[in-house]
Amino acid sequence: MKKIKVGLIGAGFMGRTHSNAYKSVNNIFGDEVVPELTAVADINADNAKALAERYGFQRWTTEWKEIVADPEIELVDITTPNASHCPIAMEAARHGKHVYCEKPLAMTAAEAVEANRVVEEAGVVSSVGFNYVRNPIQQYVRELIASGELGEAVNFRGMYDQDYYNDPEQKHEWRMFKSASASGALGDLASHTLSLSQYLVGDIAEVCGMTKIVVPERPDPKDPSKLLPVENDDVVQFLFNFRNGACGAIFSNRLAAGRKMSLGYEIQMTNGCIVYNQENQNQVQIYRHDDDKRERGFKTVLIAPGHGEYERFFGGAGICLGYADQKTIEVYHTLKCIVENRPCEIDFRFGMKVMQVIDAVLESAETRQWVAIR
Ligand SMILES: NC(=O)c1ccc[n+]([C@@H]2O[C@H](COP(=O)([O-])OP(=O)(O)OC[C@H]3O[C@@H](n4cnc5c(N)ncnc54)[C@H](O)[C@@H]3O)[C@@H](O)[C@H]2O)c1
Repeated sequence: MKKIKVGLIGAGFMGRTHSNAYKSVNNIFGDEVVPELTAVADINADNAKALAERYGFQRWTTEWKEIVADPEIELVDITTPNASHCPIAMEAARHGKHVYCEKPLAMTAAEAVEANRVVEEAGVVSSVGFNYVRNPIQQYVRELIASGELGEAVNFRGMYDQDYYNDPEQKHEWRMFKSASASGALGDLASHTLSLSQYLVGDIAEVCGMTKIVVPERPDPKDPSKLLPVENDDVVQFLFNFRNGACGAIFSNRLAAGRKMSLGYEIQMTNGCIVYNQENQNQVQIYRHDDDKRERGFKTVLIAPGHGEYERFFGGAGICLGYADQKTIEVYHTLKCIVENRPCEIDFRFGMKVMQVIDAVLESAETRQWVAIR
């Protein structure tokens, strides 16, 4: 058993979600890795104090610099808005801390490249919060694709639509300022679809994209009689080519009426097809063109033992996992890589590649040209 002292920075929605995962990880995975909730920081003292009390962090502060410089802390977990991800991660790595950072990794590809260089030079473990990749059913899909049974991937059609911001009266948030978030739906939502495309099919070579702001102003949360500008994309769409020759397209709309968690894909292959949507995260539809002609059709495969870490939760198929379980699996992988001193699969290099695609989509939308990933 190895204890790892965790310093969490950011006590909002994701701060609570990560804390819950630290509390759950030993219930599911035993005591292979034991997180110790050592300190939490948030610029909002009420948030930091409330999270510390609720989850049992030993101390709290409003200064993230205290966390990264604390000699006791081994893992710095970053759940703040996007603009502070890399500055905190790089400072933490320079202090020799392992880093676990929410997505999108950075504000720009250049910043992600630099952060990746710093963590690799420091020799620390890095991990990025692309939790949807941690759904055990995605490991099954990855293995199925790699087996060659369905032939080669031809086309990845992906989406991530939500109607969280559908109401134009919904108040402005940090996610709508370029200075805090960089892109809108692209970095917030489509980055997750990109993580799945990268994990399941491979790296992207070039993109052609467009972005659109649908609601240009929203009420200021401090004074709703005033309006603040929405500075980044409500809608993004892009076509792309993978390096392995497959093609793809991703669509994302953060105002998509009726769509609650429509993160999904259809992977069309030479000899079959795979369809997934997060609204039914415990199943995947598989079509095999080799099936008897009289029975060809999509078959539903429910989550089951043999899919990633599912069996650590349940021995029987179809008992079903949820969003929070994906985060518990992500925390488990992050801590296990630290204990075993090996790189995480979903590390800063992985997050950097997603950022390179994001930057290329923004450049393409601006120039109305195809853009190669550099
Ligand atoms: N993986 C996922 O499924 C998922 C889901 C939601 C959000 N996220 C990501 O998590 C991050 C946080 O999003 P959220 O929804 O939790 O936001 P949030 O607004 O709920 O919480 C952010 C918290 O960070 C604090 N904060 C801001 N700047 C800070 C600083 N410099 N130092 C310390 N604390 C600071 C705020 O006071 C707030 O408590 C974002 O990067 C977002 O993209 C990931």
